[in-house]
Amino acid sequence: MTTIDSVTASRRAREVLDEVETAVVGKRDALTLVLAGILAGGHVLLEDFPGLGKTLAARSFAQTLGLEFRRAQFTPDLLPADLTGSFIYDQSKGEFEFRPGPLFTGLLLADEINRTPPKTQAALLEAMQERQVTIEGRTFELEPPFHVLATANPIEYEGTYPLPEAQLDRFLLRVGFGYPDADEEWEVLRRRLERRQEEQTLRQVTTPEELRDIQAAVEAVTVDPDIGRYCVALAGATRSHQHTLVGSSPRGGLALMLVARGYAVIAGRDFVVPEDVKAVAVPALAHRITIRPELWMTEISGRTVVETVLNQVPAPTARERV
Ligand SMILES: Nc1ncnc2c1ncn2[C@@H]1O[C@H](COP(=O)(O)OP(=O)(O)O)[C@@H](O)[C@H]1O
Ligand SMILES: [Mg+2]
Repeated sequence: MTTIDSVTASRRAREVLDEVETAVVGKRDALTLVLAGILAGGHVLLEDFPGLGKTLAARSFAQTLGLEFRRAQFTPDLLPADLTGSFIYDQSKGEFEFRPGPLFTGLLLADEINRTPPKTQAALLEAMQERQVTIEGRTFELEPPFHVLATANPIEYEGTYPLPEAQLDRFLLRVGFGYPDADEEWEVLRRRLERRQEEQTLRQVTTPEELRDIQAAVEAVTVDPDIGRYCVALAGATRSHQHTLVGSSPRGGLALMLVARGYAVIAGRDFVVPEDVKAVAVPALAHRITIRPELWMTEISGRTVVETVLNQVPAPTARERV
């Protein structure tokens, strides 16, 4: 049972965005998508070049959502145990004690995950999926809210260990930040001058409990069968597209629907409209698509496939809602 209504959930979600925007300049669309992913209970991959405000955004979300924040820098020598924690021998007690790693937090910033070898990436992705970690046969739950915001550089920039599609699939969505325009960039500089210090401290808007209530309100959002079928059709169309080697799995269609619900709540509705699905289709689906190898050196990408599919698959027509 949800303890807050959708109107309250919407208002709180927008307060969170407004507060994050006091730190992060000119990224409302990207921030809205990130929040939609969190409200839908998922993990988000932020893929873009360094210096675009990804770390700042992650920290800002943690502060406003009232979540404990940990950051793990995914260096080439990071080991799985550096994330999960491990048993340490306690001399005084004469026994082994579990020392939890940074995974045990509310919001984990997994920074530059494509700089670490596959074994450590796998430990992260497994914990994200299972929401628990097993160490030496003992299982430890990762209590909700537990969200991972991972950053990755675009492959062509520094893809030391690019994540395979099968692992990218574990992220509910992938969001790019993009460069600010000149006015926004000046605004970043101007605010820094005004602040007279590097750090920015944001107001806490929700508690972890309230975040869970908002997530419960998102779970109560209505999805018409027409809309659900539209999500299925879009995911399916990525599989039959001529540029595709492997398209979106059903997990992608599911992600599309779930993120669209989070997006609808932020937009102030307790039902999903086709525009919600369209708005989240690229971030929810593009990273799940493998392009045919002969097209790798071209402009064709998961994004262009999703964009074509959005133009081809007819959206359900709006119905009167009472
Ligand atoms: N859109 C933005 N809004 C506010 N500050 C920004 C923005 N983009 C970059 N910055 C500033 O630039 C610096 C680098 O940002 P950071 O979050 O560390 O980037 P990234 O994690 O993407 O490499 C920080 O000092 C941050 O405050
Ligand atoms: Mg960073």
